[in-house]
Amino acid sequence: MRGCYVALEGVEGAGKSTVGRAVAARLRKRGFDVVEVREPGGTPLGEEIRRLLLHADEMTPWAEAMLFAAQRAQLVAEVVAPALEDGAWVVSDRSYYSSLAYQGDARGLGVEAVRKVNEYAVGGVVPDLVVVLDVDPGRGLARQGDVDRIGGQGLEFQRRVAEAYHRLAEAEPSRVVVVTADAGPDELAEQVVALAEARCG
Ligand code: TYD
Repeated sequence: MRGCYVALEGVEGAGKSTVGRAVAARLRKRGFDVVEVREPGGTPLGEEIRRLLLHADEMTPWAEAMLFAAQRAQLVAEVVAPALEDGAWVVSDRSYYSSLAYQGDARGLGVEAVRKVNEYAVGGVVPDLVVVLDVDPGRGLARQGDVDRIGGQGLEFQRRVAEAYHRLAEAEPSRVVVVTADAGPDELAEQVVALAEARCG
């Protein structure tokens, strides 16, 4: 049986990584094989691309979008698709949907154009469920850890990203679900697992 691909999304400081770890732990307790990945990164090539994406000085918006797609192509081929074929669950900190929100919408490249590029990159391996952890972008920025090139774009940019996620959820309600991130990580993880089981079970 094919596994289930679950992605966590949100603006900076939404708590995706903590909730992702809690989701993976819960699933493991239930006896599932779980592979945790993060984007950008997750493969040796992807980690090198991550360094460029987060710390290069100059980068055009399309160069940025293409590098995100490139690390994703590698991650899907090397890790995600084989894990799903083996019947494992994949819990991903960010995904294809980050590119739609950040590059497609907030950077203004166009959601459909960015979607096209990424469709070539991932060849149909897209998350079964995308949970957007919804925090106020100002509060999220205040909680942000290390500030990188994209995370340092400021509040207006984060607001555009947050709105983009809401639009994506409206457009694809069966796949993209917005969850208010006020609860603690364990409670949020429980919600994510319930949504995932409903979607993939
Ligand atoms: P990361 O350190 O993983 O940040 P976070 O903890 O917020 O997830 O850095 C990822 C940064 O890259 C973050 O600012 C979001 C951005 N990003 C995109 O712009 N497009 C993408 O497709 C992805 C995966 C991330």
